[in-house]
Amino acid sequence: MTDPNPPAAPQQPVAAIILAAGKGTRMKSALPKVMHRVAGRPMVRHVLATLDAVAPQKIAVVVGPDMADVAQAVAQSHPGAVTAIQHDRLGTGDAVKAARAVLEGFSGTVLVLYGDTPLTEAATLQKMVAAREAGAAVVVLGFRPDDPAAYGRLIGEADGTLHRIVEAKDATPDELANNLCNSGVMAIDGAHLFRLLDRIEPNNAKGEYYLTDLVGLATAEGLSARIVEGTPEEALGVNSRAELALAEGIVQDRLRARAMADGATLIDPATVWFSHDTVLGRDVVVHPNVVFGPGVTVGDGVEIRAFCHFEGATIGAGAVLGPYARLRPGAEIGVDAHIGNFVEVKNAAIGQGAKANHLSYIGDADIGAGSNIGAGTITCNYDGFDKHRTVIGAGAFIGSNSSLVAPVTVGAGAIVGAGSTIGGTVAEDALAVERAERFDKPGWAKAFRQRKQGRKKAG
Ligand code: UD1
Ligand code: MG
Repeated sequence: MTDPNPPAAPQQPVAAIILAAGKGTRMKSALPKVMHRVAGRPMVRHVLATLDAVAPQKIAVVVGPDMADVAQAVAQSHPGAVTAIQHDRLGTGDAVKAARAVLEGFSGTVLVLYGDTPLTEAATLQKMVAAREAGAAVVVLGFRPDDPAAYGRLIGEADGTLHRIVEAKDATPDELANNLCNSGVMAIDGAHLFRLLDRIEPNNAKGEYYLTDLVGLATAEGLSARIVEGTPEEALGVNSRAELALAEGIVQDRLRARAMADGATLIDPATVWFSHDTVLGRDVVVHPNVVFGPGVTVGDGVEIRAFCHFEGATIGAGAVLGPYARLRPGAEIGVDAHIGNFVEVKNAAIGQGAKANHLSYIGDADIGAGSNIGAGTITCNYDGFDKHRTVIGAGAFIGSNSSLVAPVTVGAGAIVGAGSTIGGTVAEDALAVERAERFDKPGWAKAFRQRKQGRKKAG
């Protein structure tokens, strides 16, 4: 979706610190919390992707000890990002200090985000950076939740001036009555960040170093602080599996809206599940109950009928899939090809206009253009140790219920008789049939029935 008035790009350098040292006890999981996936991508990588909009020059991800998998996930998409370890969880102020070695001396805007808060919008970060560049030493993303309960409260003015942040546990009843809350996302002038951090003391209800105290310290020095207000969705922090499901729902709604805005028809949007990276062409029609795993690209005019499951697949323009088709990684479906019900395709290229309409497994194969794969055809691609390829030429016809024992090559225009078990090579335009020889015994069935029925009566 394009914003008619996009905020200006940052004028000064931007750096980012993502706090991710929390253990996530309430997730009851062996995985660090920020590794849990939303729309197929670890939460910490959602935060990184949003940051791309402000092109940070430096990124520090603050993790706890023994979180090597977080570092790995970060490096996958952002190899320049550095992970810094916070050894003892002494509070958000202490966590930001852990990034000092990465950012010391940086001049520009430092954004602080949480790895478990994946829904902040890129445009909001741009607004915050712009407000920082306009002269504020600190900009805080505020929001008004239905239940402000335990959130820190922003104490300021209606015009967006911020004086200080007070944590719920340290707040007076008057302060608690204010529902403008701290999301935790901040944009801070790099010139003041570490100097102010060093002045934070843990003298509060939790005995922690509160990053939020930085605001009061700044304004007491005469520096200015501002509030940018966002939506409660943007501030949603994931602390439990229930909140993870909530975040998933919000991201799915955004992905559905984007698919439709970009020209796809979703007949029942709420039943279509996207991956963060799904690409749909124009005039794609998606019927109900379709699941897109990671890495799927769909060409223009494709029809995806109900109950399909795709991952790692490329689908050419005009193809028709399903109902009940399954595409696994490496499936490349050609232009105008048809993949029908209960057909599974893995690591295989299906040529232009080729059809596999019923009950097949096509794995490790090249299927020529215009060929027809009959119902129940199976590529026997695996011998228990190695995978082998099936190559079918253009315009070939594979009769129903055939087993193609790879490695096998069927030449262009060849026909394989129904029920055959075929290995090796079939020449171009040849017929190959391999089945047991047929024998007929006239009257045998009737005699059999009479014999059996006679015995039943006697018994
Ligand atoms: C914090 C804010 C509060 C705000 C709320 C929003 C402070 C003092 N309070 O409170 O004003 O309304 O978030 O959700 O900042 N973390 C570390 N290391 C630490 C402590 C925290 O990495 O030592 C990370 C956590 O993993 C988490 C984030 O920082 O992602 C916030 O920490 P959390 O303990 O949840 O802070 P809150 O008490 O919720
Ligand atoms: Mg929290």
